[in-house]
Amino acid sequence: MHDFKYKNNKLFCEKVEVTKLARQYGTPLYVYSYSTLISHYLKLKEAFKEVNPLICYSVKANSNLSILKALVDKGAGLDIVSGGELFRAIKAGCPANRIVYASVGKTDGEIRVSIKRGILFFNAESLAELDNINRIAKIFGKTTNVTIRINPDVEPKTHKFITTGKITNKFGIDFETAAKIFAERKKFGNLRICGIHIHIGSQITETAPYVAAVLKVTDFIKRLKGQNINLECFNIGGGLGIIYDKENAQTAEKFAKEVLPLLKKTGLKIIIEPGRFIAGNAGILVAKALYIKSTPSKKFVIVDAGMNDLIRPALYEAYHQLLPLEQVKSREKEVADVVGPICESSDYFAKERLIPEVNAGEYLAVMGAGAYGFSMASNYNSRRRPAEVLVKGNKAFLIRKRESFLHLIENENLINL
Ligand code: LLP
Repeated sequence: MHDFKYKNNKLFCEKVEVTKLARQYGTPLYVYSYSTLISHYLKLKEAFKEVNPLICYSVKANSNLSILKALVDKGAGLDIVSGGELFRAIKAGCPANRIVYASVGKTDGEIRVSIKRGILFFNAESLAELDNINRIAKIFGKTTNVTIRINPDVEPKTHKFITTGKITNKFGIDFETAAKIFAERKKFGNLRICGIHIHIGSQITETAPYVAAVLKVTDFIKRLKGQNINLECFNIGGGLGIIYDKENAQTAEKFAKEVLPLLKKTGLKIIIEPGRFIAGNAGILVAKALYIKSTPSKKFVIVDAGMNDLIRPALYEAYHQLLPLEQVKSREKEVADVVGPICESSDYFAKERLIPEVNAGEYLAVMGAGAYGFSMASNYNSRRRPAEVLVKGNKAFLIRKRESFLHLIENENLINL
């Protein structure tokens, strides 16, 4: 599943010992495995090969330029949500006709540059947005491809913060409004409204919610056909869950087996937008234990990474496996909280977790940190965001250096009032 494995009790990323990277680049440090990243992309490509989908990796999961380039070089497209992500996509060398753009709040500037660049599709999320894209395309004298993001109102059975396909969520357009838009699509003179997009949520471990959503959409596609409205593509979004703990996550094959027959029937070009499935298990966050603190009620392992580096536990109470970079078989296990240095009680990586005893100065790997790790990192507590290293075989590449203190203040003006 991933290429972080112990050899002689030392954790390796592919053929590189992670402790060596921690010593060379310092901690906290993100370490990614190229082979894990690419193999997950290829697994999905293989599972869906019957429909030859365009797999648009979701940039928000991990937007480092080298990660994007590695995937784009293998033929991936990119799913973006902002002008900043478009900028990254272009810098990484992604052809514009492999870029799809979703977001409920695209600004005029973002729409303008996307039209100029000639992206493959806007995934439009409201009537007002359609009017706006149409207006801007008209100014440029261009016709722009648009898919309608439908909110299929299904329960994806995931954390409420990452549920997006219920009708109470801000995302997408309900079926009836979408039907009206398709029926009147000629009135948007500068848009080719030629497809449907859905994305029902993230870290979804069951296939049933997808099947329910896809079925609703395929019925809708039939209904449109009946009205002589023919589409070209169906973007089924991302959301495939991975194993962080003991989840019984679906494999790419199982997912494809259930969904493919429905997709094939549509005869449409299929787009998939996975983020976590590709990057999640391809990265770890390495932290060093600074202090061991015993209080009357608990034992705390205080590490040098914090919620600013990886916010998932604080934000979603997410579970991430913790592994020592060096296994000492004789070590007793003990129950401890593994926490960061930040002044918030939500700054933790594990709570009351049974882990092998840790001593100050030793390194821990926070597993499954390749997606929504660095990309959600912040400078909270004026901490510099960590360095990122990408390993391929026996080579390690620094793909982002640690931020400097100057970086923290470079956009600030010191005013004498
Ligand atoms: N497409 C759209 C329109 C999306 O909004 C997202 C994720 C994806 C694709 C990719 O979803 P994935 O395959 O990675 O599940 N920060 C949260 C996850 C937020 C996901 C937001 N949208 C986390 O750390 O769990």
